[in-house]
Amino acid sequence: MLKTINCTVNGRAMELQVDVRESLLDMLRNRLHLTGTKQGCGVGECGACAVLIDGETLDSCIYLAVWADGKDIVSIEGLTGADGSLSDLQQNFVDKGAVQCGFCTPGFVVSATALLEKNPNPSKDEIRRGLSGNLCRCTGYQKILDAVESTADQRRNK
Ligand code: FES
Ligand code: FES
Repeated sequence: MLKTINCTVNGRAMELQVDVRESLLDMLRNRLHLTGTKQGCGVGECGACAVLIDGETLDSCIYLAVWADGKDIVSIEGLTGADGSLSDLQQNFVDKGAVQCGFCTPGFVVSATALLEKNPNPSKDEIRRGLSGNLCRCTGYQKILDAVESTADQRRNK
């Protein structure tokens, strides 16, 4: 059964017909071709599919597309500049070597963006806790934590 929803995705208001069983992840990837959001586990464990919904980080694989009605959705594609330039956080992921295969990276960047928005001066433990819903199988977590910490430092010193 299809249902019409109205939502904002990466700043663009849209009306969409979605299946009532469809996940937000499938809506983003298959209907809108926003393939930066990844499917890892598909059951809310790995954070690869994380997006911002009204500013909160949520796993889009376990969030129904129909629940997005009236919501403001931001995916990884919405975090770059209009010209495609990287955010300071994304640049720090590159500079700190916090990306290996890159599969987990969109989810980490989304979660860390929300974390720094809510807490611009996070301690190391707060960064760890804030990213505890995201799993990485190849980079190791230290470089990811370094990238987030450097971003907070740079913003403080601007
Ligand atoms: S794919 Fe959604 S949490 Fe793993
Ligand atoms: S960089 Fe490969 S899973 Fe994180």
